[in-house]
Amino acid sequence: MYWVLPFVWSMSFWDSLLHGAPPVTTELLPEDLDYAAALHSEAFARPWSGDEFAALLAQPGTFGFVARRVGSSGAPLGVVLVRQVLDEAEILTIAVAPKARGHGIGRLLMDSVLQRLHAERTASLFLEVDEENDAALALYRRLRFVEVGRRPAYYADDEGRRTSALVLKRTLR
Ligand SMILES: CC(C)(COP(=O)(O)OP(=O)(O)OC[C@H]1O[C@@H](n2cnc3c(N)ncnc32)[C@H](O)[C@@H]1OP(=O)(O)O)[C@@H](O)C(=O)NCCC(=O)NCCS
Repeated sequence: MYWVLPFVWSMSFWDSLLHGAPPVTTELLPEDLDYAAALHSEAFARPWSGDEFAALLAQPGTFGFVARRVGSSGAPLGVVLVRQVLDEAEILTIAVAPKARGHGIGRLLMDSVLQRLHAERTASLFLEVDEENDAALALYRRLRFVEVGRRPAYYADDEGRRTSALVLKRTLR
C-alpha cells in the first residue's frame, strides 16, 4: 500500500486529476497552424493568422511545438515558434490557452525547444518580452535567461501607454 503514497501526493497526480491527462509536446505541423493562430489571438493584441504562421514555418530554420493532453487530437493548449540561424535561435512567439496557464505548459514547451537546440549544438537562445509581463518573465528567469538589452517604449497598449521590451538570452553551451 505504501508505494502509492508518493504518487498520490505528487503534484502531477493532483494536476492530472484536476485538469485531465498530462500534457505532452509534438512538432508544430501544418494542420496545427489554425489552432496556433487561435492561441495567438487569445494571447496578443495583434494576432497572427494561420497564413502568417505558415509563412514563418516555411522559412528555413523555423520550427515549433504544440502541447496537448496525452491522447487528445483536438485543439492544442499551447504553441511555441522558434527561428534558428546558424548557432543562434530566437523565440518568435509562445502562447498558452488562458484556461491552461499556470500548469507547467509554458515550461514544457520551452523545455522542448531547449532540448532540441541542445541536440543541435546551438549556442544561444534570444527572445523579447514586455517588462511588465510577469508570467513570461517568471518562466524565462526560471530557465536562466538573463537580460542583455532593453528597447525603451517598444510596446504600446490601446491607451497609448508605452513599456519597454527586454531582450533576454539563454546561453546553451
Ligand atoms: C507566458 C506564458 C506562455 C506562460 O505559460 P504557463 O503555462 O502559464 O507557464 P507555466 O505554468 O509553465 O509557469 C512557468 C513559471 O512561471 C510562473 N508563472 C506562471 N504564471 C505566472 C504569473 N502570472 N505570475 C508569476 N509567475 C507565473 C510559474 O509559477 C512557473 O514558475 P515555477 O517553475 O518557479 O513554478 C503564458 O502565461 C501565456 O501564454 N501568456 C500570454 C502570451 C505571452 O505573454 N507570451 C510570452 C511573450 S514574450
